[in-house]
Order: sequence, then structure tokens, then C-alpha cells
Amino acid sequence: MTEFTLDGSKRTVPDGLSVLEAARTCGTEIPHFCYHPGLGPDGNCRLCLVEIEGARGLQTSCNTKLAPGMVVRAMGKDAVAARQAVLEFVLLNHPIDCPICDQAGECKLQDYYVALGAADSRMAFPKVRKRKREAIGAGVMLDKERCVLCARCTRFFSNVMKDEQLVIANRGNHAEIATFPGRKLDSPYAGNIVDICPVGALTSEAFRFRARVWLLQATPTICTGCATGCNIYADAKDGVVYRFRPRTNPDVNGWWICDEGRYSYPAVNENRLVAARIGRGPGAREASVEEAVAAAAAELAAVRDTGGTIAVVASPDASCEEVFLARRIAEDALRTPHRTGRSVKPPGVGDALLRHRVKHPNTPGVALVGLAPGAGGRDLPGLLSPPRPDAWLLLGGDLAAEGGAPAAEALSAARSVVAIVPHAGATAASATVALPGATWIEKDGTFVSAKGRLQRARAAFPPRGDARADLEILAALGAALGVRLPGPRAEETFRAMRAGIPALAGIEWDAIGEGGVALPGGVGPP
Ligand code: SF4
Ligand code: SF4
Ligand code: FES
Repeated sequence: MTEFTLDGSKRTVPDGLSVLEAARTCGTEIPHFCYHPGLGPDGNCRLCLVEIEGARGLQTSCNTKLAPGMVVRAMGKDAVAARQAVLEFVLLNHPIDCPICDQAGECKLQDYYVALGAADSRMAFPKVRKRKREAIGAGVMLDKERCVLCARCTRFFSNVMKDEQLVIANRGNHAEIATFPGRKLDSPYAGNIVDICPVGALTSEAFRFRARVWLLQATPTICTGCATGCNIYADAKDGVVYRFRPRTNPDVNGWWICDEGRYSYPAVNENRLVAARIGRGPGAREASVEEAVAAAAAELAAVRDTGGTIAVVASPDASCEEVFLARRIAEDALRTPHRTGRSVKPPGVGDALLRHRVKHPNTPGVALVGLAPGAGGRDLPGLLSPPRPDAWLLLGGDLAAEGGAPAAEALSAARSVVAIVPHAGATAASATVALPGATWIEKDGTFVSAKGRLQRARAAFPPRGDARADLEILAALGAALGVRLPGPRAEETFRAMRAGIPALAGIEWDAIGEGGVALPGGVGPP
């Protein structure tokens, strides 16, 4: 540990920090543009100047290592005056179009300007004008006039992606961010530069002007787009998700997320199944969830009691708790060996940074919970070939779409298809009873990432319309089939599930926290 003095108070912080990081650890935020924890210091913006006793002149705190006994004045008179001068310089040619800027509410320039005295401009000459709305590719908009030339965006491409796609072109007043001539951004991670741009120079085409950020509620959760399980904030208002942003977790995704995950939020807003339905084809009718659960239980019991074959399929998109209840229903209520959490969705694109080829968030969780064929049971590929099951209980995903013609045929040929799904997709259309489940953004639950990390997804808002958390529907279905299941709250189900799984022994729900826990011994491949 290193002892130092900050603005007159003795402080102790971990070794190896810069002065800026040490001050931040102590709760003092030194203004900065170019420093970012995921990019390191660059020393170009000069906004982080501080006074250090014994040093000649002011020092940039972002790239000065803290030394034992250092006496730092972050709020000293000279340091504050220097920052005010830097800000005045940055604002010389700034358009001051804050009222129409989409960054308002999370703009560092605006925050620092107010915090450092909000001085009037002394600029007496016409400002240098630059292009204000340039679509530079990958859904990113550039406003060159608002840029403070901190080089975070260029360093993201050079330091993190190792693929330079942006540069600072020209000099002096005319310096500006630019792509290479004739080229646009095409990185699958380009959206991250919108997050790290400290001002309104880089904004997202998908998000800009859709919502003011202070009206959004940020829920710390995880992305379910692939087996990596990146930590994110879901920013939502009135039951609608407006954007996903990365949430820092050094053990999972650092400071970044991929664009595939970032722009996956429309899927949770659109094409929702918001009411239960009984019957298929022209005879289908809407029903209450309670009536539909009773109808589903009656159909499944009829097939079970007449010796028919029942398949229980949980998508690896479902949480561990949901898979656990699906397993209990398959084993204790339907007494079928044909149970699986396998997917037939083909793998997608993966890379060395974050993206995983497996586009499901919980394949290791399915294995952990033990949803697998029993003696004489068939796995998913086998179930899609003749002789096909007489009845299906489907949880999550969209088997009819993901499994192509064999899946669509198997479902339409079955006597009964009970589907608990959040979307009005092909599976809901082939169901004899369609139950409106919640999207992952509307429910709590745990997921196990490809690297064996148990993480919690959190509900950002209640399920839409008559949709319910899947645990609630499963518990009701279990009860209608004569089996009392734990829950329906995710925490209660987790406790019951944990009792039978050695890898979860001793893990408390609250201890999973916002960063997740590594499971002892890891897990098998997703
Ligand atoms: S566009 Fe944003 S991140 Fe890039 S240099 Fe300008 S202010 Fe910095
Ligand atoms: S890498 Fe996977 S988990 Fe991470 S943001 Fe992309 S899709 Fe989501
Ligand atoms: S943050 Fe230190 S010089 Fe920019």
C-alpha cells in the first residue's frame, strides 16, 4: 500500500496507481479527457494537471505514478486555474450547441465547464466551422465541431482492436477526427467509441434523439447474445429498452461489448407474445394465462397417461433456474426420459476479444443443472426425426425457426405443443398452447458463461402485457400436473437448485452480486 497526502488529508491506496487513479480511489475525481482505464494514459489533453510538492510546475496526474509520501494538491489554486485555461482553449471553437446535443446529461465537457466556474468566452473571432453530421460507418455519427481531440477513439482502434480505422487529420485549429479516405468504420466493436467519447462528438445512430439519458433507468445485467456473458447496463423507460452499454467487469468483458450484443435490444422490444393462446391455426383463441396453463397441463397429462412420447426441451437461452424447473417437470410430473437443453441453432462468428461462436448464454448452465436425456431418452437431433414425440414442452428460444424444416414438421405433426416463449415467432404459431414468457430483460435468473462464471441477469421492468416470468408459468404448470415446485422467485428457485449441485455449494444469491462468481473447477465447453 502507498501512503500519500491529497489536498491536505493523509491517504493510503494500493501500490502501482497513477496520481489520477489514486485520487479517484479516494473519491476525488480529477477532470480528464484523454485518460480512460481501458486505454491507459496519453497525456494529451492536459486537463488533469495537479500540484505535486517538490515537482517543477504542474504535473499531468494521469501519467504520473504515485510515489510514497507524495503531497498532491488536486484542488490547489494553480491546478484549478490551469484546468480553467485548458477548458477555455478547448471551447474556443466549440459550437456550444448543448441544448440540441444528444450527449447532454453525460457530457464531460459540460460537467467540467460547470464545475470549473462556467466562465464566459473571450473568443472575439469567428469560430472554425467543421462538418457536424457525418455517418462514419458501423452506426456511428461524428460531429467534428464538438470533438476535444482526446484521441480516445483513435486509441481504441490502435490499442484495443489493433486495427487502425480512425486518425486525427490536419493540424492546429483544423485538426479533426477522420476515417481513411474512401473508407468507413467496419469494426464489429465500433460502438465502444461512442461510449468512451467524453463529449457529443461521437453518437450512436440507433440511439441519438430517442431519449434523454436522465429519463432512462439503468439496470446492471448481462448480455445474453453469446456464451461470453458480457456485463451491461440496460437503459430503459416505460418498459422499452433504448440501449445497452458496457458495464466494467475485468473478469469478463473489461470495458467493452461487441456491436452484435449492443444492438440486440430491439429484439426484446419487438414481436412480443403478450397474451396466452389456446389452439393453433384458424381455431386459435386468446385465453388467460391461468386457463392456458390448465389446458397445457391437461394436454400433456393426456399424452402421458395414454403412453405417448413427450419431449421436454429447454433452450440454452433459459436461465439455470428455469432449466431446473423444466427438468423437475420432465422427471417428476411427465416422467419422460426425452429431455434436453441442446440447441440446433448453428454457431455464429467468434473472435479472440469477446464474441463467442455459441450464440446462447447458458449452455454450460444447462449441463450444470443436468437437463439431459434419461435412460432410453433421445436428444434434440434424434427427437426431430421419426418416430417423433406426440407432445412437446418447449421453454424459451424458437425451436421451429432455429431447427428449420425438421423442427417445423415435428412440431406441426405433434398432438400437443406447449410453448413458453416470449416472442410471437414460428414456435408460438405451431403451439397448441402458447404461454407468454418474459424476455430475459424482464426477469431475474442466473447464467453460466463459457468460462464458467455464474452471473445474474436482472429484470429491468415487469413483463409486458399478460406475459409472466417463465418461473411463474413453470411453477403453475408443475402445480397443475401435481408437482410442487420451488419459487416462483428466482432467488428461491436458486436455493432449491443449489442443494443438488455440488459446484454451487456455499454460493449465496447475494454473493453473486453484480460481477458474478467463478465456479470452482469451471465447466465443460458450451
Ligand atoms: S471524437 Fe470523441 S473520443 Fe474521439 S478524439 Fe474527439 S472527443 Fe475524443
Ligand atoms: S460478446 Fe457476446 S455477450 Fe458480449 S456483448 Fe457481444 S453478444 Fe453480448
Ligand atoms: S487525462 Fe491527463 S493529460 Fe489527459
